[in-house]
Amino acid sequence: MTVQVLVEKKKLEKPPLTIYTLGDRVLRQPAKRVKSVDAEIRLLVREMLQTMYSAEGIGLAAPQVGVNKQVIVLDCEPDNPETPPLVLINPTIKSTSGEVCILQEGCLSIPGVYLEVKRPEVIELSYRDEYGRPQTLKATELLSRAIQHEMDHLNGVLFVDRVENKLALNEELVKNKFSPKAVKSV
Ligand code: CO
Repeated sequence: MTVQVLVEKKKLEKPPLTIYTLGDRVLRQPAKRVKSVDAEIRLLVREMLQTMYSAEGIGLAAPQVGVNKQVIVLDCEPDNPETPPLVLINPTIKSTSGEVCILQEGCLSIPGVYLEVKRPEVIELSYRDEYGRPQTLKATELLSRAIQHEMDHLNGVLFVDRVENKLALNEELVKNKFSPKAVKSV
């Protein structure tokens, strides 16, 4: 069976998967490595992409849809029909730059909350693509940031755990009806 991974970049009325939100325990479980990148994984990737585009996000990790696997989808240009999305299976960070930068982040699992987080600027990683082929990538700027954010999800870490300004954090969470107790500062 051949499962086509690429999907149309559009908002579906009924996205195939449900996105769990801050406070749901599935978000805190470390994800397991994918043993074989098969048709089942490609179907998951496809449904994750459809769900991500429907939610107007630029990244989604499998734990966010309740699947305990090291699978990530990303698209920093969701409005550009020409560019393909990026699929990361079993990603490993090989090196990070000494330079760090502060950028505002959001998360489909914490809707409405946008806060500044400090992370390394440049990363090099290895991973498998949707056909199981080994790949490497050097990422900078928004892509680097998005990959680091999504890889945190595979370890049960959420961006709010990394926010240094606790005052702003609590304020934003309460304003958006999330419990500050759901944060596990790292
Ligand atoms: Co997220």
